[in-house]
Amino acid sequence: MPTAKLILDGKEYEFPVVVGTEHEVGIDIAQLRAKTGAITLDPGYGNTGSCQSAITFIDGERGILRYRGYPIEEIADKAAFSEVCYLLIYGHLPNQKEQEEWRRQLTTNSFIHEDMLKFFEGFPTNAHPMAILSAMVTSLSAYYPDTGNEDDANHNIIRLLAKAKTIAAFSYKKHVGEPMIYPRTDLSYAANILRMLFATPAEHYDVPEVAENALNLLLNLHADHEQNCSTSAVRMVGSSRANLFASVGAGICGLWGPLHGGANQEVLEMLEMIQKDNCDYKKYVKMAKDKASGFRLMGFGHRVYKNFDPRAKLLKKAADEVLSQLGVNDPLLDIAKSLEEIALHDDFFVQRKLYPNVDFYSGIIYRALGIPTDMFTVMFALGRLPGWIAQWKEMRDDPSTRIHRPRQIYIGECERHYVPIEKRGAHRPNEPRTEGAATLRAVAQQS
Ligand code: CMC
Repeated sequence: MPTAKLILDGKEYEFPVVVGTEHEVGIDIAQLRAKTGAITLDPGYGNTGSCQSAITFIDGERGILRYRGYPIEEIADKAAFSEVCYLLIYGHLPNQKEQEEWRRQLTTNSFIHEDMLKFFEGFPTNAHPMAILSAMVTSLSAYYPDTGNEDDANHNIIRLLAKAKTIAAFSYKKHVGEPMIYPRTDLSYAANILRMLFATPAEHYDVPEVAENALNLLLNLHADHEQNCSTSAVRMVGSSRANLFASVGAGICGLWGPLHGGANQEVLEMLEMIQKDNCDYKKYVKMAKDKASGFRLMGFGHRVYKNFDPRAKLLKKAADEVLSQLGVNDPLLDIAKSLEEIALHDDFFVQRKLYPNVDFYSGIIYRALGIPTDMFTVMFALGRLPGWIAQWKEMRDDPSTRIHRPRQIYIGECERHYVPIEKRGAHRPNEPRTEGAATLRAVAQQS
């Protein structure tokens, strides 16, 4: 068994090395503090494995993404999203009988408790649908408590998957002031979402097949992405034995941020801004390179993918196909392609290995489907649900799981003593008060 050696203060320590099924190497430092008294410092966790997982494999250098071993390219437009949910959560593709039962349960559990409808009344009409989704998903725990029983836990998994789409659609209907449309048990997951969004009680509405397939593809491409920010939030919260709904509620909040799932809304708004600015691409690329501007090219860059994001590749192709099949001519697609072309030939982006990510083209497809911009991140959340659930379940079923509790390197004041208010002098916040803090500040200034 390979080991890793660490020399600290002249003393040598040995640690076991863990090798994954795809030959990923991790140094197991679980005993580091006990043996050496030291901890690791890894802001942003770029080098830290928080768990061992059998759900999703990513090789960022080679642009590989696999769900339970299946390449994303084979699954994306072939599998129904419900099949992908089953695969991620239970580890294998469902057979015909399992799939029929799964589909039945996912549709019969779609309805939300009538009492919960009152919650929708309390939100302002301009509320961001992510605020509604996160609150409503967490609120499901009030109706379906965690009993610790495995059957109940499985039922809650189905409830969450089934009801989240209804909640998402209802939040949209609330926003546009239209009556809510209930899910239909004979439709697929994707078709139900589209119908609940766009049907009205006044007219018959058939979900266009192109739209259903496009949304199914989008959901599949978002279904899991191993230990990203939102999934880590789910695991972090779930590690305290918090229930599924509370843990996933935390994930939804993590996803909302513009550096994560919120980027799909930001990309669209950025493309619209560039369009209004006479397609002055150079100005925006220049701004993205200037750190002081605070502006980033949204939909570009990824912590893990350093060559290309396989999801973006599939979505770029799909964007062309879906728009042409729907007969939509969206100038934002051309703007996105031109922007990508310029950035991919710019040294700044080349040197930093910044490529379009999943959010770069997804918004253009959502828009072609008629989904409003502020619902984009909600669609991402619906797609990511099976991943969050699978990761929560894997952690919950693993008896070796410990509560997540990172450590820190303290850089604050050393011990000092309470001074009664009448004896305190003027407060000078910028003055270094301890040797440690002063040294750190000097180091930070030099680097
Ligand atoms: N535009 C301009 N510069 C960028 C960008 C960008 N989109 N992304 C990274 N950089 C630069 C960054 O300034 C830094 O430069 P330097 O080395 O000179 O300091 C370097 O590239 C590395 O960036 P980082 O922020 O250290 O990288 P990270 O791994 O911490 O962040 C990221 C990854 C996705 C948050 C980041 O690339 C980003 O902010 N992208 C834009 C937001 C976005 O599209 N997010 C969606 C991610 S994919 C969907 C999901 O799964 O969340």
